[in-house]
Order: sequence, then structure tokens, then C-alpha cells
Amino acid sequence: MLNILVVHGPNLNLLGKREKNIYGTTNLSTINSKIEKKAKSLKISVELFQSNHEGEIVDVIGKSEKRFNAIIINPAAYTHTSVAIRDAVSAISIPVIEVHLTNIYSREEFRQKSLISPVAIGAICGFGANSYILALEAAVDLCGKV
Ligand code: DQA
Repeated sequence: MLNILVVHGPNLNLLGKREKNIYGTTNLSTINSKIEKKAKSLKISVELFQSNHEGEIVDVIGKSEKRFNAIIINPAAYTHTSVAIRDAVSAISIPVIEVHLTNIYSREEFRQKSLISPVAIGAICGFGANSYILALEAAVDLCGKV
């Protein structure tokens, strides 16, 4: 069975109360439930991880290859700053799909640059929680059913 790691980066634990005009009112546990429901319907398994700490994210990516077929990651603010997360993505051979709730290309200039996109297999942004659902479909399509 396909096993996908979903990584939520910094401040995504605050969804639902954080800048609701930008990120909406859906909290992370509701997003995680949607992801789990979709995974069930796709007959795959998912593991969900959230951290506000760059090094912890680097560690889970680095240890992911043995257990997971692909990673879906919303690196959040680290998207725009983290050479360490980019290098971790480059270092592994399983595909990594980048997701964002918002369309980062329609926002402030500093958000329009992703250090992760060039090393990700693809990126989905601007569809709210549905970005993760679309990424799950893409991951299944990419890896096939194992
Ligand atoms: C985000 C976009 C980032 O610019 C921001 O720092 C986030 C969330 C998104 O999902 O839209 O925290 O990754």
C-alpha cells in the first residue's frame, strides 16, 4: 500500500485563528481529517506531521525514504527562506510535492519566490485545503498503487 508523508510547516498549527481573511477558518485538524478521508478513498495510507522547527522538518525528510513513497509538504514560511529544507528534498529520491493553501504568486513579493519548487516534482497552490487533496491525487498518479 502506498504510504505518503504529509508535512505541515510553521504556523500551520494556528490555522483557523491565524489571519482568517487570508487562510480561512478551517483549522489544521479539519484539514488533516479531509486528508485522511481522501487517503481512505484512494486506499493509501498517510502520516501527518506538523512542526514549527526547521531542523525537525529536515530530520523527517531525511528519514522518509525507507517508509514513504512520496512526500506532500507545505513548507509555509520556510518555502521562501530554507536552503536546509531544499537540500533535504534534493537529498532524497522519493518525489516531493509542494503545496500551499494560498496562491503565493498573487501575494507579497517575498512570497513569490519558492526555494523548494525547483527541487519538487511539482507544486499546487491557491486551492485552500483542496491543495492537499489535489496533491494526494497527484502522488497516487505518480507512484501508482503499490
Ligand atoms: C503558505 C504561504 C506562505 O507564504 C506562508 O508563510 C504560510 C502558508 C500557504 O499555505 O499559503 O505560512 O505556505
